[in-house]
Amino acid sequence: MKPVKVGICGLGTVGSGTFNVLTRNAQEIERRVGCEIIIEQIGARRDNPNCITTGTNITRDIFDVAVNPEVDIVVELIGGNDVALKLVMLAIENGKHVVTANKALIAVHGNEIFAAAKKNNVTVAFESAVAGGIPIIKALREGLAANKINSLAGIINGTGNFILSEMQQKGRDFSSVLSEAQALGYAEADPTFDVEGIDAAHKLTILASIAYGVELQFDKAYTEGISKVTTEDVQFADELGYRIKHLGIARRTQTGIELRVHPTMIPKDTLLANVNGVMNAVLVDADAVGQTLHYGAGAGDEATGSAVIADIIDIARNINSADSRAVAPLGFQTDELSDSPIMSMEETETGYYLHLKAAEKPGVLAEITKIIGDCGINIEAIVQKESDEEYVPVILLTQRVVERKMNQAIAQIEALESTLGSVARIRVEHL
Ligand code: HSE
Repeated sequence: MKPVKVGICGLGTVGSGTFNVLTRNAQEIERRVGCEIIIEQIGARRDNPNCITTGTNITRDIFDVAVNPEVDIVVELIGGNDVALKLVMLAIENGKHVVTANKALIAVHGNEIFAAAKKNNVTVAFESAVAGGIPIIKALREGLAANKINSLAGIINGTGNFILSEMQQKGRDFSSVLSEAQALGYAEADPTFDVEGIDAAHKLTILASIAYGVELQFDKAYTEGISKVTTEDVQFADELGYRIKHLGIARRTQTGIELRVHPTMIPKDTLLANVNGVMNAVLVDADAVGQTLHYGAGAGDEATGSAVIADIIDIARNINSADSRAVAPLGFQTDELSDSPIMSMEETETGYYLHLKAAEKPGVLAEITKIIGDCGINIEAIVQKESDEEYVPVILLTQRVVERKMNQAIAQIEALESTLGSVARIRVEHL
């Protein structure tokens, strides 16, 4: 069978991992595909000492790869939005299939890219864009295709999970853990994407579109990072029987689809609460199969390279098969995507952990609990912490309530003379 030729654009962490695994496992991969996969060309601004590319055609202009008549599949591993979009569109216009690890690109420009791919009869594959090496795209789109997805909740940013795990287990401070994640190659070029939840929101947007057959709508995702989570909150959560995890949650409701990324308190005896370090996990709750948990390395050179190569193999198999069996990018073969709306955060319902500072004097707790009760919110637990300060920490756990009501309660509590500063909130889920 004719070899399939790939052009790799970008030789950073994922590019080098992809190159090394493709080279090292060439024989095994050939047996699986039924033909040789040749790295025809690499487009990279500089070499990477982590891979030996001697003998491979290297160009410093990535756009050469997109127009190279010998290349069947362009592998986009440069990241970012503008140049990557130009590269991918040029490749598609030139009849190339595309494999990309770029979650921002797919979450923000996916609709446009998929339309162009359909018009040009090529495949765009993006398994590596979400949760690194975990085959979650394939699991949702193919393995769970019989199901209605009730909800999915994922730890889908390794850097954020690494930071929260170190804060919880070793009491380390936020910035030193972030520097370590950067040195290990986990963090994004701009690490605020990791800690402010943007990276997770990109990935969640993609998962939700596959789960619910809706257009990619990154702009409607509620996004809150972990930079305001304090070591104190991590400890209080622990005392109450919870862990704080940075979750991306998508849930089908009567009125639409919840799409939200925020720090979340979950009971500490659950599987998701015990996913630590840079590891990722996605918990899918579906009507037929029930719950499935998909766990693995969410970042890293060869782990992500593994998912990139799985896509290359899929496309190579299709190229070599007589009939075209390509699965649509979101797994819905008709063009009839659902118009189910993405819900505003105000209408979303969760439990709440509140942390506030209140004056140590009679009647203050009564004032606070009255506001909460008047807003129709049930309190599950209330704890006043000991302190020598004039204002002492008060911790509250509430039952589930729509966020709109909680916003009203918080605004009234913050306006009290007997409270100090703002009320910190962490949403609570029993997944
Ligand atoms: N910065 C990302 C993370 C890399 O930490 O999960 C993988 O997408």
